[in-house]
Amino acid sequence: MTGWRQKRSVMQRYNLTSHMYEERYREEQEAKYAAALDGLNLTPGSKVLDVGCGTGLFLSHITSCVDTAVGVDVSKQLLLIAKKCTKNLGNVLLVLADADHLPFKEAVFGFVFTFTVLQNMPKPEVTLKQIRKVAAMDACFVVTGLKATVSLEAFGELLDASGLLPTSLKNGDALRCHVVQCIQRQ
Ligand SMILES: C[S@@+](CC[C@H](N)C(=O)[O-])C[C@H]1O[C@@H](n2cnc3c(N)ncnc32)[C@H](O)[C@@H]1O
Repeated sequence: MTGWRQKRSVMQRYNLTSHMYEERYREEQEAKYAAALDGLNLTPGSKVLDVGCGTGLFLSHITSCVDTAVGVDVSKQLLLIAKKCTKNLGNVLLVLADADHLPFKEAVFGFVFTFTVLQNMPKPEVTLKQIRKVAAMDACFVVTGLKATVSLEAFGELLDASGLLPTSLKNGDALRCHVVQCIQRQ
């Protein structure tokens, strides 16, 4: 498995700090969700994937306006919190898996989000290519890059190398990530 040692250490870190995740990061992440959803047309038929969903904060935001919302994460402890928070929502599915090995059929999802995850991945380009596989050809993607770890230029190069074409960028001072809406390059 690609970079498994790094992934295991990331997983252990998130497992150990799971109890304080939302207290620390909720506000920061919610600003990213607002930027991500601006201008996106989620509909009652949408099938949505959130890669690295953590405690399910984003899933809780969108579940009422989509058909199915699937969250994948490598941290069991974060997923247990997500499970608790989404237990009354009938259309949320949570899956314990590595973002580089997504256990879904190809071309299933119409919207794919990944918030503040790529800085954890040994080869973000590999991750984005995996994500593209499970997305429909005309899917919309929102991918974020943590400003502290990647410049806008380098992030643009990563998206380009991964076959993603940016259609909108939000990265004002209030955001700690570059938040980029993309489509697949045909
Ligand atoms: C900064 S948190 C962001 C969580 C969530 N996206 C949010 O908006 O709150 C990074 C997330 O990536 C997950 N993650 C890290 N490495 C992963 C991997 N290899 N596969 C799947 N998820 C991973 C972590 O467990 C954690 O939930």
